[in-house]
Amino acid sequence: MRQAAAHCQRLELIGERVRAHFDSDLVPAPGQFLLARLTPAFDPYLRRPLFPTLIADSGFAADFDPADSALIAPGVWIDVIGPVGSAVPDIPSRARVLLIADSDPAVLLPLASQAIARGGAATLIISARYPLESLDPEIEVRVGGLPALTAEFAAAADLIFIHCHHSLHRPIHHSIIQSRGLAPRDYAFALSRSPMPCGVGACGACAVKTTRGWKLACVDGPFFYSTDID
Ligand code: FES
Repeated sequence: MRQAAAHCQRLELIGERVRAHFDSDLVPAPGQFLLARLTPAFDPYLRRPLFPTLIADSGFAADFDPADSALIAPGVWIDVIGPVGSAVPDIPSRARVLLIADSDPAVLLPLASQAIARGGAATLIISARYPLESLDPEIEVRVGGLPALTAEFAAAADLIFIHCHHSLHRPIHHSIIQSRGLAPRDYAFALSRSPMPCGVGACGACAVKTTRGWKLACVDGPFFYSTDID
């Protein structure tokens, strides 16, 4: 983990959110994130997790809420620390990935990009309104109830990545079993939505209860095997 500066090159509107594209020599791998300081304050606990929505050799993009977007503009430098967390395994070539999101799929998009770049395919199932026109047209999209859509699409997927409210994990897991039967443990990964103010395993705020005991999302995650999330 190290500290670096990221330079905002341009902004893009994604519905009500703002996607900022940064040049940086600190680039997280899919599954990892950065801790960013958007203001000059020196309190380390004022950093916020920045999950990439796009990853390139020269930098990354990340989405901001309207409240934070006032702090970001082309030409602005932000201070980042990272990469934080454990990367998810590389997506094999020609793999078909299924992305499952209840509201915002942005943090899953680098996984779709990696699958498509390696000759595979990506399907997104989502239950809430989202500016679908902003997505890579190569991503197949279905909108509707997540357990039902999971049951329909899981059998054809080689890997599944989930970003949704904790209450949906169990119904989605049941749909995966219904569709696919018993799958290997590394078949489906779910992102923890815990707050992660320190990112180094020091504060305990990101503790996640798993079938293997309590884990820290910032060190052991933030993606966990979905079968392990209690
Ligand atoms: S964010 Fe502090 S322990 Fe994980």
